[in-house]
Amino acid sequence: MSGQTNIPRRAVLTAMATASAALAAGAARAQTTDQARPTPGQGKVALVTGSSRGIGAATAKRLARDGYAVTVNCEKNRDLAAGVVRDIEAAGGSAVWVQADVSDPSAVLRLFEENERAFGGVDVVVSNAGIMRLAPFSNMADADFSRMVDVNQKGSFYVLREAARRVRDGGRIIALSSSITQLRSPTYGPYAATKAAQDLFANVLAKELEGRMISVNAMAPGVVNTTLFTDGKTPEQIAGFAARTPHKRIGEPSDIADVIAALCSGDGAWINGQTVFANGGIV
Ligand SMILES: NC(=O)c1ccc[n+]([C@@H]2O[C@H](COP(=O)([O-])OP(=O)(O)OC[C@H]3O[C@@H](n4cnc5c(N)ncnc54)[C@H](OP(=O)(O)O)[C@@H]3O)[C@@H](O)[C@H]2O)c1
Repeated sequence: MSGQTNIPRRAVLTAMATASAALAAGAARAQTTDQARPTPGQGKVALVTGSSRGIGAATAKRLARDGYAVTVNCEKNRDLAAGVVRDIEAAGGSAVWVQADVSDPSAVLRLFEENERAFGGVDVVVSNAGIMRLAPFSNMADADFSRMVDVNQKGSFYVLREAARRVRDGGRIIALSSSITQLRSPTYGPYAATKAAQDLFANVLAKELEGRMISVNAMAPGVVNTTLFTDGKTPEQIAGFAARTPHKRIGEPSDIADVIAALCSGDGAWINGQTVFANGGIV
């Protein structure tokens, strides 16, 4: 005797019919869900600091494409910020730009107030504004160290504090960290320290916002093709970074914007209090 059980043929046919009906219903449901799924940002508002260029500009445009009304921010480059708004509007989105230095807490307050005046509230805050000054410890100027702490660490704190007070339930808060916290290369010490602060900010803030369905994360890019990274580097040095990356290229701002958009979508809700590394595998 084999181990086969003797199941009546009619029962097998019924089970097969039931299974295929269930599969068809599942497929139809999935199709309906995909068709009916609204764009993630429909009716929602995003504020992205430092979005006149680089990763912030790509993020502002990507979130606008996902349906968010977007507040764009710059420190100095008003023309670039206005250009990002023009691009968003030309693509059918809504945006305003606000010049505000994030290292000034009263300017950060004004940034959020102007966002509220334009769009009535905020659902997503991306604390992205940042600067990088590189030097070995023995050569780091006081002014460069102070400005990095003022913009990257204090500035992001002021932005996250306001986000904690204002982001609506179910929202997202993202702070830009960096994979340099793992690479730890010479000359990057003070900059890396200001970025490591973002990992701690996000983890603790996620816990403080318990019960509000707001997910807070740090986003840690690797090397990305923006002036923050390329300024002061030779083409050979940049090629060297590309060679160290398994995909054999450095990141583009859109690579990071895509991951931020995923974190902001409903599918990203369960990622909370984490540092998300998006670096093409360089670390
Ligand atoms: N690029 C990379 O390889 C890389 C890697 C890891 C992490 N990151 C992080 O990603 C973020 C964005 O970097 P990025 O490469 O896109 O830099 P970027 O191209 O140099 O752009 C920096 C943006 O921040 C704004 N900004 C600078 N200081 C500001 C201030 N005090 N107040 C308000 N806005 C200010 C700039 O505005 P203006 O145009 O007015 O100057 C600009 O919009 C930074 O936090 C950076 O640390 C970058």
